[in-house]
Amino acid sequence: MSMRHIFKQGTDPAAPVLLLLHGTGGTEHDLLSLADAISPESSVLSVRGNVLENGMPRFFRRLAEGVFDLEDLVFRTEELNTFLDTAAEERGFDRRNIVAIGYSNGANIAASLLFHYKDALRGAILHHPMVPIRGKQLPELADVPVFIGAGTNDPICRPEETEELTALLNGAGASVNVHWERFGHQLTGTEVAAAAQWYRESIQ
Ligand code: MLT
Repeated sequence: MSMRHIFKQGTDPAAPVLLLLHGTGGTEHDLLSLADAISPESSVLSVRGNVLENGMPRFFRRLAEGVFDLEDLVFRTEELNTFLDTAAEERGFDRRNIVAIGYSNGANIAASLLFHYKDALRGAILHHPMVPIRGKQLPELADVPVFIGAGTNDPICRPEETEELTALLNGAGASVNVHWERFGHQLTGTEVAAAAQWYRESIQ
């Protein structure tokens, strides 16, 4: 299935392509400013989730707040992964050079890509992610750099869950950097600045 998206050609073809994944109720337009903050020379592929919850776009279904429909999660993760394969072919970019930037529900589908597919992402910036699925053997993620932005008082993505996600990713070999804030589930300018600094140090 195709996915509604925006593609912006960057000025540096060697720079990672930034995959932008919005939060619940968002669109492919929401996170474009993050791409400018993180890597302005990169091409940008910003995708809209194919699921609607009371009119709000999402990347996979949930049964309740924080309770995911795991069958749909697996299906939608494959759908996004296949979409990335196709987009790379059609747009002529390197499929192995994609760095995801996701917020909330978008961070969860990005984490799910990491949990399910070995070479889905070169790296990831996850703003306020949860553990997408439990009891799963993760693929080898040796040296995949991951930035997690989290809130010590985030009521949706609790600190224990951030620690659990970090441990799971570390266990698969990923190098995870967690940045803590105290603004609940919000994505703040200081968190974006921390992600940009991490990107400069870890990706380029
Ligand atoms: C999710 O459903 O992915 C998380 O609960 C965060 C959200 O999008 O509200």
